[in-house]
Amino acid sequence: MSMSMSASTANPRVIVALDFPTADAALALAATLPPADCGLKIGKELFTAAGPKLVETLVQSGHRVFLDLKFHDIPNTVARACVAAAGLGVWMMNVHASGGTRMMIAAREALAPLASRPLLIAVTVLTSLDRSDLLELGLDEDPERLALHLAALTQGAGLDGVVCSAREAAAMRARFGAGFKLVTPGIRPADAAADDQSRVATPAAAVRAGASWLVIGRPITAAPDPARALAQINTEIANALEGCNT
Ligand code: C5P
Repeated sequence: MSMSMSASTANPRVIVALDFPTADAALALAATLPPADCGLKIGKELFTAAGPKLVETLVQSGHRVFLDLKFHDIPNTVARACVAAAGLGVWMMNVHASGGTRMMIAAREALAPLASRPLLIAVTVLTSLDRSDLLELGLDEDPERLALHLAALTQGAGLDGVVCSAREAAAMRARFGAGFKLVTPGIRPADAAADDQSRVATPAAAVRAGASWLVIGRPITAAPDPARALAQINTEIANALEGCNT
């Protein structure tokens, strides 16, 4: 078996979105996915339903957990929420860049003393917002330009990276350099249904554009054999990365 066919890597690029309403459903899916082959994303629905206990259970089972709660509040409150999330053992968490530089710095500084610090990234502009939504909020700005501006603030505040569309990843990578983490949702293998995602990219295109990690939900969670779907995606990614290195 060549390297490119190996499903397990030291740094699995796929983060499976556990968009489930109950802990039981999330645990049943997670049990089928080897921790060496993917991270897991817990968002607002699952966290609100199942709470910190589920996060700790998944961390204890060896999974890298991305806690996607998009904190957005006054700096002190966000900083304390980040420390509480770190206490659950999560690998990565996020805040809204639109909370401002002081909020992001407070979060980073609160995590800095921890022995094992989680990655801290920011959401720039929600992809559900178009130009007219921004105008309604008083922001006369193109969403993609605003996303780049907020990503620059994120990097300036010393955070580790941003969530962005794979379509924006190449511009973000060129502007913010190799060390800045880019986490891209909206990923669909070439043969998969787009569902409600409108601007999708394949796993190979996302990593070629410079994505650090790919958030993938339904193409894995709704597959008849989720572990097999994950393995196929990991093979596609490994082949694309091999192509980038040659
Ligand atoms: O099932 P699917 O692959 O579309 O799931 C994508 C995941 O990424 C969901 O958890 C969704 O909320 C999240 N997400 C997204 N687009 C963004 C930010 C997050 O699809 N811009």
